Amino acid sequence: FHIDWDASAAEKGGYDWFMLKEIEEQPEAIAATLLGRLTDSGEIMLDEVRLSDQDLRDVDKVFIVSCGTSYHAGLVAKYAIEHWTRIPCEVELASEFRYRDPVLDRSTLVIVISQSGETMDTLMALRHAKEQKARVLAICNTNGSTIPRESDAVLYTHGGPEIAVASTKAFLTQVVACYLIGLHLAQVRGIKYADEVAAVVDQLQEVPGKLRALLDRIEPVRQLARELKSAPTVLFIGRHVGYPVALEGALKLKELAYVHAEGFAAGELKHGPIAVIDQGTPVICVVPSSAGRGMLHDKVVSNIQEVRARGARTIVIAEEGDQAVLPYADEVIYVPRTPTLLAPLVTTVPLQVLAAEIAAARGHDVDQPRNLAKSVTVE
Ligand code: G6P
Repeated sequence: FHIDWDASAAEKGGYDWFMLKEIEEQPEAIAATLLGRLTDSGEIMLDEVRLSDQDLRDVDKVFIVSCGTSYHAGLVAKYAIEHWTRIPCEVELASEFRYRDPVLDRSTLVIVISQSGETMDTLMALRHAKEQKARVLAICNTNGSTIPRESDAVLYTHGGPEIAVASTKAFLTQVVACYLIGLHLAQVRGIKYADEVAAVVDQLQEVPGKLRALLDRIEPVRQLARELKSAPTVLFIGRHVGYPVALEGALKLKELAYVHAEGFAAGELKHGPIAVIDQGTPVICVVPSSAGRGMLHDKVVSNIQEVRARGARTIVIAEEGDQAVLPYADEVIYVPRTPTLLAPLVTTVPLQVLAAEIAAARGHDVDQPRNLAKSVTVE
């Protein structure tokens, strides 16, 4: 009698790939990142942040510096941090940051984001910022790694170990950590958005449940992936926080499926990208909520119309109940209703699944894509 025992299959908990397991773990990862950081009265507690409230009140400029998917988390954060705190916030690729002589001083807060805590470009950017006397706050998923050790303060994402090269749960928890920092900055600075901060805290707590519901009915996205597996090019468009989501969707597809994929700000289509649309080119459109920022929603809907008129196959990610997209969508993937600034926590997920499933359908190793490493420790 012989039992086949495959240790790695056991670690994957029944999934074919670690990435699929890690996608499924996202509701718990977000809940873990929020745990213990929100008081009953809606205050945000960042115990591990060793910067005084006065230091935070003195901040007059924020830079977010990171690489790859972590850079996209920073791009999302900019919208939230600027809106809640009214502090100017720039997001920069770590590999560019220190070579352009950025203007930094004691009242600059540099937020470095790194899943591994070992990415060399991010580490060198951090060192440069410290030399210029800026305060450095790390968002990191790996306890005791180099980047948090060298930073003035740390906020750990509690995503748990991420094995697949392509980042999924680490990304969503980085975005959550950025929201927490933005809300905390807004609170200590006594900003006029105090009511909004309390509301956002409640809305954040609802995200894990919404994500669970989304993941429980993700099967049609898998089916769609099989249909798209031979597309030579896939384009992604979005506006506002949907723009970094489009960039992230395209990066995932490039990384995993080795398919030419580009993300664009939907408003830029007419300045170039629309020229590459051919008959049948899939265009994934990330649509903002129609509540709150209705104008933004309508603009994206007209962008969808424009690409469809040029022959695109439109695949629309929209919030439940959004009927306005239906006339222009070849496919709709509905996601739970979420306030605009938090929407990346749900809209990113179908794009992760799409990339993993297209890669699998093309016969690629989803966890270990060619030419890529989980952690890049050289410049
Ligand atoms: C590599 C990984 C990416 C990751 C990036 C930044 O390129 O393949 O998934 O986003 O590094 O890594 P970090 O550990 O600094 O977040």
